Amino acid sequence: MKVKVIYCSHTGNTVQVAKAIAEGLPVTSVLQKLQAGFSDEDARIDEDDLIFAGFWVDKGSCPEEMAELLRGVHHRKIALFATAGFGQDPAYFAQIEQRVRALIPDSNRYMGAFFCQGKMQISVRHRYEEIQKQNPEDLKIKQSIENFDLASTHPDDQDLNHAKKFAKEVYQAALDK
Ligand SMILES: Cc1cc2nc3c(=O)[nH]c(=O)nc-3n(C[C@H](O)[C@H](O)[C@H](O)COP(=O)(O)O)c2cc1C
Repeated sequence: MKVKVIYCSHTGNTVQVAKAIAEGLPVTSVLQKLQAGFSDEDARIDEDDLIFAGFWVDKGSCPEEMAELLRGVHHRKIALFATAGFGQDPAYFAQIEQRVRALIPDSNRYMGAFFCQGKMQISVRHRYEEIQKQNPEDLKIKQSIENFDLASTHPDDQDLNHAKKFAKEVYQAALDK
């Protein structure tokens, strides 16, 4: 079975997960990078049986280049993985998963998703701090800062180990059926 790990990563978090997934697989994986759009070569997935498609969460979904890729894949097994700034609540990940999964044509077999938190850029915290200065009692902004700090160490070793485990399980399930 041919396996490909294909991802888009803006600031480097999702790359780490992509590498962990590729390392954990007992096959030679092709690691490709998607950023602004993708080349024909990137998109050539015809020969792959199992695709791990990874993305950074962009406004509650995947970036457009990943959406474009997913919409064009047929008759393959597809698993998703992603990093997101928010993520203390599993329901949040589930919501994004459903949204992105809906982009995948029905001819594919969906193999599940792995999510973890990914650090955000410091400018985001600075923006929160400015808002907090104006509204020191604002609970929502306090929570946003707390979330920023929680995210700041992710993906960590545990996330990467979980990603590897997920990839192995998906690979095994893809072999079984
Ligand atoms: C423009 C932009 C939009 C984002 N939108 C979301 C979002 O809707 N939800 C979320 O949880 N994180 C959001 N994030 C945070 C990133 O998804 C998160 O930091 C991710 O780990 C970045 O991955 P990367 O380093 O692979 O690019 C956003 C970040 C940026 C820059």
